[in-house]
Amino acid sequence: MSLTHFRIADSSAPARTSRVTIQTIQDKKSHGTPIVALTAYDYATARLVDEAGVDVILVGDSLAMVVMGYENTLPVTMEEMLLHTRAVRRAVKRAMVVADMPFGSYQVSTADGLANATRFVKESGAQAVKLEGGASRLELVKRLTDAEIPVMAHLGLTPQSVHRMSGYRVQGKSVAAIHHLVKDALALEAAGAFAVVLEGIPTEVAQRITAALHIPTIGIGAGVHCDGQILVLHDLINLSFSDPAKFVRRYADASALITDAVQRYSQDVQARSFPGEAESYHLSKDAMAALLQEESVARRKA
Ligand code: KIV
Repeated sequence: MSLTHFRIADSSAPARTSRVTIQTIQDKKSHGTPIVALTAYDYATARLVDEAGVDVILVGDSLAMVVMGYENTLPVTMEEMLLHTRAVRRAVKRAMVVADMPFGSYQVSTADGLANATRFVKESGAQAVKLEGGASRLELVKRLTDAEIPVMAHLGLTPQSVHRMSGYRVQGKSVAAIHHLVKDALALEAAGAFAVVLEGIPTEVAQRITAALHIPTIGIGAGVHCDGQILVLHDLINLSFSDPAKFVRRYADASALITDAVQRYSQDVQARSFPGEAESYHLSKDAMAALLQEESVARRKA
């Protein structure tokens, strides 16, 4: 295919597309403009999140908990993640869509990780993948980057390590642990990661990592100094059926909204006030006359 088939971005010309790219979020870091990221897992919520102007939409493996009702993120499969990422991708016009690699899809071997990440880009249209871990992921991050698959890394409280961590605990609290995190973050950057999620670490630690890196940090429970922030949509709108973590701010009460709507619908059905005239279809006068005529003939014959 010749180059004339592509729209080539010319940095001196006004951008033709407003889709968020790696360059967009890198520029945000350079200009000190906060990056807004949020999860979404289906067409409807992804459309709303995208149209609200969020920069990055993560199809997080948190869907195992908030959409599928599992106790942790470990059971969700590649096929399930692909299905949800496709639905999100169909909805999103502007935000960068990042697919979270589920537990087991990259821990067993680099070859597995490469094959599964390729599926996200090829079969679901994700622009990038996210994976958890530090030093043990460097080879994979490098291989994915070489294979043109952008990688968002994830350090600190990594939920797929729930058993090793003995629960969900704030990480990076000792000087040794802080050095470890900074070293991992720098190594992930050197391996080619384009951004790092920092989860559940002290603000002061995230601030130091953010200052040390050229690539953006996106925090969740990591304080205000990260280059961007991410939350789980269902936490933000009170749809996660759990007490919010300290770092969550609730902006809406979707649970109350949905419960109220369903209760009022139920009352209306029971009172036969739904459906009303405005919600009903009627036969045309001619069709009604023909029907009555036929019924009356049938009655006479009976
Ligand atoms: O799965 C997820 O939602 C995440 C976050 C960073 C929120 O990994």
